[in-house]
Amino acid sequence: MTTKEQHGWIDPYEKIWITVAIVVLVGMVAALTVASVAFGIQVPVPEKRVDPNSIAQDANSPFSEPGLRELGNGKYEAYLVGQTWNWNPKEITVPVGSTVTFFITSKDVMHGFMIWNTNLNIMVIPGEVSRVTITFEKPGEYPYICNEYCGIGHQTMAGKVIVE
Ligand code: CUA
Repeated sequence: MTTKEQHGWIDPYEKIWITVAIVVLVGMVAALTVASVAFGIQVPVPEKRVDPNSIAQDANSPFSEPGLRELGNGKYEAYLVGQTWNWNPKEITVPVGSTVTFFITSKDVMHGFMIWNTNLNIMVIPGEVSRVTITFEKPGEYPYICNEYCGIGHQTMAGKVIVE
């Protein structure tokens, strides 16, 4: 055994790649930090679990009456139910500058909820409630669509947020 093969010795190329791996790792963590702090990117977490079969009937569930709830101070909660092949409700109207927290679930299969011209894009999974918050700074119409293929009528799953 030569001294170079002994314990504790690292090949120069190995050292370069270890350095590269550390630099990439630090870069990724920095990018993630910038994304979450500067651009407000939120990692989706399931808000809670629900029974997709009874969610629309259960009078104790906010999803039995989907729609907008005003909390005051420009804050709103929007409860949406996705099903093949529509969103309930199809339309939400809020004043400009409103902060809306969406609570979305599915009655049947997996859907995707995305609002055009925003960074809001979240999976909608039966049995789970997805929560995401957004502030509408500019007036206009913000169409929302399903972006997760969910069957023959997938392309008809659309609605809009009207910001006035
Ligand atoms: Cu719902 Cu595609």
